[in-house]
Amino acid sequence: MPDNPIFVTRPSLPSLEDFVSSLEQIWNSKFLTNGGPFHQELEEKLVNYLGVPYVSLASNGDAALLTVLKSMDLSGEVITTPYSFVSTTHSILWNGLTPVFVDVDPSSGNMDTSKIEDAITDKTAAILAVHCYGFPCDVGAIETIAKKHGLKVIYDAAHAFGVKCHCGKSVLNHGDASILSFHATKVFNTLEGGAIISHTKTQKDHIDLIKNFGIAGQEDIPFHGLNAKMSEVNAAFGLLQLNHIDKVIEKRKSVSDLYCSLLNDIEGVTCLNETAAGDQHNYSYFPVIIGDNYKHTRDDLFDLLKSHNIMSRKYFYPLLSNIQTYQNYPTATVGNLPHANNLASRVLCLPIYEDLKHDDVRRICEVIAK
Ligand SMILES: Cc1ncc(COP(=O)(O)O)c(C=O)c1O
Repeated sequence: MPDNPIFVTRPSLPSLEDFVSSLEQIWNSKFLTNGGPFHQELEEKLVNYLGVPYVSLASNGDAALLTVLKSMDLSGEVITTPYSFVSTTHSILWNGLTPVFVDVDPSSGNMDTSKIEDAITDKTAAILAVHCYGFPCDVGAIETIAKKHGLKVIYDAAHAFGVKCHCGKSVLNHGDASILSFHATKVFNTLEGGAIISHTKTQKDHIDLIKNFGIAGQEDIPFHGLNAKMSEVNAAFGLLQLNHIDKVIEKRKSVSDLYCSLLNDIEGVTCLNETAAGDQHNYSYFPVIIGDNYKHTRDDLFDLLKSHNIMSRKYFYPLLSNIQTYQNYPTATVGNLPHANNLASRVLCLPIYEDLKHDDVRRICEVIAK
């Protein structure tokens, strides 16, 4: 195989010495979980860094989704996107709700808000939208529809850490709540982890109750919750990550900008990140759309890159509406979701991470251009 492998992603890490020092504090305090000092500090620091009212840390993004949906006490149908990771729709099912798919906007991969009202029935309880690749959804349109029909809005913002809309405010301030993922592959990682963003102290307290099994006190368990708590080790790791997150995003931006400039002239290759201008993006992914006028299909390009020891990712593929669990839902048809099906067959996410060398970006682009 030619050259060293280039992975599709590599995690950013704090210095090992700093982490060992945090571990020593945990060893000394013997406080391992249940909202210890590192957990409290990370929640406070994230409130400030993200510019949001309340943060509840979680063990992962999936548990955050399960918890936030549970906190809303919903029944019936939830309108959502098929162009996402399985966690989005699985969390709807785990809460005893029914996912209803609407198509996406082909320029961003986000839910096409002009399709939402047609999907509303007398059973619709909420909209669960995804800020796909960290690109903000049309939050204004979603809010207007939700208000008109009395629906809750939850944003799966797993990809949107640090993203701001062009108003300069965090995208996480929209909707009734948002969730983040701090998985190892994400821009900001705590090894595994996640968070729920809420708007009031009452809402945060309720979410914190649910993520702690529904236990309010030793003899007081008013709710059936789950264990979605983040440990002290993950929180301590996250605090160290926060110290260098701006640099991480800056370096990702320089990789993304270089890709855009090198791929610009290649016929049939469209860089989705170019459309993010105006928002403060986090460059969490580098998705490209492979058009008919490119000389290979997306799948052939994936194989070609692999033959050069370059890992890319068909993300999101397969489409959620086409996997066994959802394929028989009435709204899962190709006819209902033409843009999502098209994108799922054309998008390739190219390698992007903090330490990706610019020479490697050039090597990737040469293979694509050849
Ligand atoms: C859109 C989306 N939602 C939810 C999740 C679940 O997050 P986690 O892996 O932290 O459980 C992911 C993870 O990749 C995701 O991409």
